[in-house]
Amino acid sequence: MLVIAELNQGPSVLDIVAWFVYLFSAVMFVMGLHFMNSPKTARKGNFISAFGMIVACVMAFVVLFVQGFISVTAVIVLIAGIAIGAIAGVVSAKKVKMTDMPQLVSVFNTVGGGAAALVALNDILAGEEPSLVVLITAGLGVLIGSITFTGSLIAAGKLQGIKWVKKLNLPGKGFWNIFFAALTIAAFVLLCVFPEQKLLWSILTTVFALCYGLVFVIPIGGADMPVVISVLNACTGTAVAMSGLAIDNVALIVAGALVGAAGVTLSVLMSKAMNRPLLSVLAGGFGGSDAAGGAADGPEGTMKETSADDVAVQLVYADKVIFVPGFGLAQAQAQRELADLGDLLKEHGVEVEYAIHPVAGRMPGHMNVLLAEANVPYEELVDLDDINPQFPSANVSLVVGANDVTNPAARKPGTPVSGMPILDVDKSQNVVVMKRGRGRGYAGIENELYFEDNTQMLFGDAKAGLQAVIAAVKELLN
Ligand code: TAP
Repeated sequence: MLVIAELNQGPSVLDIVAWFVYLFSAVMFVMGLHFMNSPKTARKGNFISAFGMIVACVMAFVVLFVQGFISVTAVIVLIAGIAIGAIAGVVSAKKVKMTDMPQLVSVFNTVGGGAAALVALNDILAGEEPSLVVLITAGLGVLIGSITFTGSLIAAGKLQGIKWVKKLNLPGKGFWNIFFAALTIAAFVLLCVFPEQKLLWSILTTVFALCYGLVFVIPIGGADMPVVISVLNACTGTAVAMSGLAIDNVALIVAGALVGAAGVTLSVLMSKAMNRPLLSVLAGGFGGSDAAGGAADGPEGTMKETSADDVAVQLVYADKVIFVPGFGLAQAQAQRELADLGDLLKEHGVEVEYAIHPVAGRMPGHMNVLLAEANVPYEELVDLDDINPQFPSANVSLVVGANDVTNPAARKPGTPVSGMPILDVDKSQNVVVMKRGRGRGYAGIENELYFEDNTQMLFGDAKAGLQAVIAAVKELLN
């Protein structure tokens, strides 16, 4: 509507230039996303999207300054803010370990959701009585942004393993979810109906939405967290798009819509990969909190230990070996050692494949990126549906720091991983599991695979363990 009004009055040259620049930025965002389809071009995609965002920010800055919306002092404050934000972003992105990336994404969601909520809040409160369109779009920006703010903060704390956050528990979680959802929606509707009381209703919408974010995420834990992070990411995008609509900024609308759509797509794909109904996630109604325990009864039997020399013999005399990397591989930064072992065995004529579970590690595509880093050809990474039929023909499956994604308990009802598709490692002729000790996986339950007759455990850090196996294989081959 603002656009139509502007056109009726005849847009200025600056308006037209700004629209074309924003369109250019939007094209950069779409092209960037397209390049992110493959690990080979993902870095280029990142640069293109970042360039589009810088162009959009500079244009927004020029428009505000030329139209006299901001004073010189405000410009200085903005530049200082951008500098601080950029330095914090670059330093944290460079310093953070790959295994801690989900926490960083969650913190970025917190900042993004909070910023979108503040922009929208300002649009409602500044100036005269806002139109219904502004009330609806900005109100939704406040609502979704506030939920994302607190929800992402809790999610980041849980993923970081902060004890008191992990221990948070919420008796009667269903009640609190419905209670705060109802209050938030009621305050939002009243904001739209009674714009003359905008201060009261916008503050209440913010407060109730902040509370809803808390009660939504607190009860969720363990293996269900990745889907929640992705849903919150989609919320950040939606809040940003709503704020863009409220302040009539095309670049913000397009960027927010892309993040929102990508987040929804990822949430659907991940919930499918984990066999979790997405609607239940949105209702905050599935998954056990870490505080609630969630451990199933342990399996019976004992674990059989093996040695690096014995594993080397099994690998060298095998026709077909499947590597199963998991979070522990990333934790140990042992991707290069695994790739080296694979190369050694391939040179010796052994068929080697890498089984990639869609949620192995701590974020989507984690294993693909790690192994690409170690120059494992992308074509050798085989996903769940294609590798599962191959396990019975594998002489040895070498599981390196993977746990939940191999747990046969997922095939039974009543465990925190029930229903999650798993890699059928237990169907291999022999299984060797490399892990440091008897620690549990992310979902906090024992793995039945470790107690199977055809499974042997090679305890120790994945990197050191793989180095020992490589040395033993070399000795055998010489
Ligand atoms: P996990 O179930 O987390 O198991 C990792 C195993 O690695 C642990 O049992 C641990 O045992 C071992 N480990 C840790 N550090 C090690 C080291 N330095 N050397 C050797 N082993 C080490 O991993 P997974 O099987 O990859 O499953 C992923 C889980 O994370 C799933 O439950 C999934 O839902 C969840 N999750 C996934 C994502 C996405 S999207 N990928 C995001 C968040 C959460 P020890 O302590 O005994 O060594």
